[in-house]
Amino acid sequence: MSTQMQADTAGSMKSGHGLDWPGLFATRAERMKASEIRELLKLLDQPDVISFAGGIPDPALFPAEAFGAALTSALTGDTKGAALQYSVSEGYKPLRDWLVARMASLGVPCSADNIMITSGSQQALDYLGKLFLSKGDTALVGWPTYLGALQAFNAYEPNYDRLTPLGNRSADDYRATAAANGGQVKFAYASADFANPTGETLPESARKNILDLAEELDIAVIEDAAYQSLRYDGDEIPPLLALDIERSGSIEATRTIYCGSFSKTLAPGLRVGWVCAAKPVISKLVLMKQAADLHSATLNQMAIHTVASDGFEAQVAKIKATYQARRDAMLAALSRHMPEGVTWTKPDGGMFVWVTLPEGADGAALLAESLKTERVAFVPGKAFFADGSGANTLRLSFSCASEAMIEEGIKRLGRVVRGG
Ligand SMILES: Cc1ncc(COP(=O)(O)O)c(C=O)c1O
Repeated sequence: MSTQMQADTAGSMKSGHGLDWPGLFATRAERMKASEIRELLKLLDQPDVISFAGGIPDPALFPAEAFGAALTSALTGDTKGAALQYSVSEGYKPLRDWLVARMASLGVPCSADNIMITSGSQQALDYLGKLFLSKGDTALVGWPTYLGALQAFNAYEPNYDRLTPLGNRSADDYRATAAANGGQVKFAYASADFANPTGETLPESARKNILDLAEELDIAVIEDAAYQSLRYDGDEIPPLLALDIERSGSIEATRTIYCGSFSKTLAPGLRVGWVCAAKPVISKLVLMKQAADLHSATLNQMAIHTVASDGFEAQVAKIKATYQARRDAMLAALSRHMPEGVTWTKPDGGMFVWVTLPEGADGAALLAESLKTERVAFVPGKAFFADGSGANTLRLSFSCASEAMIEEGIKRLGRVVRGG
């Protein structure tokens, strides 16, 4: 057998040294692939790289002392047995009660039975994919959209179609496309505030368009509110779930499933998020959680509850002030250093600016060049498109770099974009 033939058949033969793992994996595993930019992004750990790549909070802003006190108190007071014990899948009741008040302040009157605690909002996206998507069904997503949502949904082997908040595509068109792909449209997934990766916010009219379309298609809406608390300019716009309640009368009549997170405000490492939705959805999610991990860590939920009750607003005010200054620094630096023909979003909040280079530019090649010559990292935009388009886009995060580093990093990036 030639070397080439051996190489060709190696993937499908049992080698004698081990199992043919890919042959045993379920078909759903085929779509779980490491991204091609991972190797490049490993270079981020090097100290001389200025990174705008990670979409993560600045650890210097974590309320570490408050968490220290909360954890000590949970482990020493009357609650110490409960803190280390198994608990209910729905989540820690005092935290759910706190979230009832928080949701009410966002225009969402609900009860604790409408809330389930998750291990980060990422877990909610996985569960919702599992709950709604049979193989071949269609999920409507933004072009671009949050890569982690695509990764979560991919395991359920869906098709994707482009959700246009402009309301310019008919329900019949969406229905026909989904049927041609062998399934039904099941939900629209959207981040209404300061989306990852674009930083953009949907105006109220666009939110209403999404609800109109969902009504016509009779599908669910998954609202990803991971960044909602991080608004630096402008007035709050009601979440999709609040607008849905306005038209349907009560949360029980809504089709919107709201996914919230403490990751961007308090601490991502504790993995605490929540889902707020009509009871039939929550009941199913609770059964899924029982099967998947029984419940989110009790101690973490208790600590989040204490820190949120004692100072959620103060913590959010503190991080907003820092991120707003960094956002301003990044927008000013982009204006100074980017050449003609490059455009970018001007986010009212969140952590991201989305850059569009002229047609034909390649963000992945630019990253390789940028790391090599200028030691600046970012995420090429292509990974955020379900159809693999968007090669000429980049995501920049301003959350973790100081204003001086932002100025220096964007100056260097401008040189790479100019080509030398
Ligand atoms: C838009 C969006 N949704 C959800 C998540 C998941 O966050 P977590 O699971 O920490 O709540 C992230 C994380 O970056 C995100 O950017």
